[in-house]
Amino acid sequence: MLYSGSLGSVSAQMPKTFFITTAIDYTNSPPHVGHAYEKVLADVIARYHRLKGEEVFFLTGVDQHGQKVQQSAAKAGIPPAEFVKDITQKFVDLWKNLDVKYDEWAETTSDRHKKVVQGILRRLFDAGQIYKDKQAGYYSVRQEQFLTDKERGADGQFGAEWGEVEFREEENYYFRLSQYKDWLLSYLENRKDAVIPGFRQTELRNAVERLSGDLCISRPKSRLDWGIELPFDKDFVTYVWFDALTNYISYAGYDPNANAVATGLRPVGTDRSNESLGTARAVATREFDAQLQEFRDKWPALQIIGKDVLVPAHGIYWLIMLHAIGFPDDQMPQLLAHGWWNLGGAKISKSAGNIIDPFVLAEKYGAEAVRYYLMSDIATGKDADFSDERLIERYNADLANSLGNLLNRSLTMIEKYRAGKLTRSKSAESYPLEEYGLRVSPTLGIIEYINAMTGHTPHLACQVALNLALQCNQIVDAAKPWVLAKDSAECGHLDQVLYTLAESLRIIAILISPVMPRAAHGIFDQLSWKMELSGKEERFSLADAEWGKLPDGHVVGKPVPLFPRIEQ
Ligand code: MSP
Repeated sequence: MLYSGSLGSVSAQMPKTFFITTAIDYTNSPPHVGHAYEKVLADVIARYHRLKGEEVFFLTGVDQHGQKVQQSAAKAGIPPAEFVKDITQKFVDLWKNLDVKYDEWAETTSDRHKKVVQGILRRLFDAGQIYKDKQAGYYSVRQEQFLTDKERGADGQFGAEWGEVEFREEENYYFRLSQYKDWLLSYLENRKDAVIPGFRQTELRNAVERLSGDLCISRPKSRLDWGIELPFDKDFVTYVWFDALTNYISYAGYDPNANAVATGLRPVGTDRSNESLGTARAVATREFDAQLQEFRDKWPALQIIGKDVLVPAHGIYWLIMLHAIGFPDDQMPQLLAHGWWNLGGAKISKSAGNIIDPFVLAEKYGAEAVRYYLMSDIATGKDADFSDERLIERYNADLANSLGNLLNRSLTMIEKYRAGKLTRSKSAESYPLEEYGLRVSPTLGIIEYINAMTGHTPHLACQVALNLALQCNQIVDAAKPWVLAKDSAECGHLDQVLYTLAESLRIIAILISPVMPRAAHGIFDQLSWKMELSGKEERFSLADAEWGKLPDGHVVGKPVPLFPRIEQ
């Protein structure tokens, strides 16, 4: 996650905790499959880091303020506070259903969060980074921002992505965003993996080059009062993005007042606009060091977001906000922008009426099937088309026919020919790669797997595990244990085949555990392996994924169907 070299003297310390966040979902309507994808993706990455033995802090939550929420609550005839409570619960329930195991849950209406947002606003205001001005222009209700001519399409109109656009005249507070344009360009120039995939970083850089004007960070209460009040003007609430983005630090223990007070280096009110980049960085590093250990142990985070919220929200507003409050360049988060699940090539949206309800999916196919499909059928960063047929097809082919069938037939044969007992002879010490003309050994597979997970591409990691299962089925078909069992001269050969199958299944369970934790437990349970840890996450460790850990004489359990076929 951290990078080295390109920032010269800035040295990055390895954080003790792997910190991962997701976008926080709007509570204006219940979750759909797009929300589920992002959270499962983050959960899989978090589980992979736990599998490596790392301390993990996985933060997700809900975005409860703003105009969209206020409008939806008004439509429902319910006060916003009550409205968001209900929708928030739906998100919490969904993550429980889908085994999304987070460490902290962010709600932007909480006092804890509000204090940090107000602390940051106060600090920027006192430092002259926020000023009051009057604006007249076109306003996008959907994106909750004023539009400029740059947002107009070739036909001179504002595109559909802006939703309803109206003319407005208003006094508001502005954050000096444009002042940081050069800094952001130089930061992106120095850090090539600030955004992954790389083509999204290019997209961001191009957008930064076009950046002009400051960011309106307030909304008059006369028009929107469902938000966090500005600490220096009670007639305004803050812009929902300024509020929401702050969750990433407010829920990680950031203290907006620690910096200036602790260091005494930068009195409140210091204007950094004339500082050279080098000076700004040196001061910032020390300011950041004034944060509590609790925060510094975690930060910076890997932030999982959808491609639509990279520009301008995360790539411009968020990075500049962090820089403006004293985060040094080597403490900038890394942004992983994923693609979208579409339906029949069209965007999934409430207004299009093509919402796919993840509760229904989980109920119909089970959490594991949904997680597997969402992780295996999309390449991170790209879009994919959602279809129930495809989900069923992949489930039946990969899980029921390949992995499930392998588990079932292996345990059945071990029971039938050896009363469940494995023999770890000399010949079983290594994987019979050459004997059966196979492509990858589990050892090689693990390297591929680590590469896939390090590159945040769970679809490739799933492929590694599936390939090992396919190879085992190939071994069974070639070795024909039922024939070997009839020939006493083939006794050792049969032991070797059976051991290979059980040991491969043990390794496959470890590899699939971030994506399908329940199935991984199922395999370990049926292998009667590490039973004292049954149901617990620490049962799985990547370090255990080396060949030959099942001991001689180990007795496996009875087969129970793990992935019953889904009949259409
Ligand atoms: N509340 C803001 C994010 C604030 S983060 C400080 C928001 N909320 S959202 O509910 O509209 O979207 C939440 C996340 O879900 C975003 O990252 C968005 O890209 C993602 N997705 C929404 N629809 C999606 C798909 N159809 N497919 C994949 N992800 C999608 O934006």
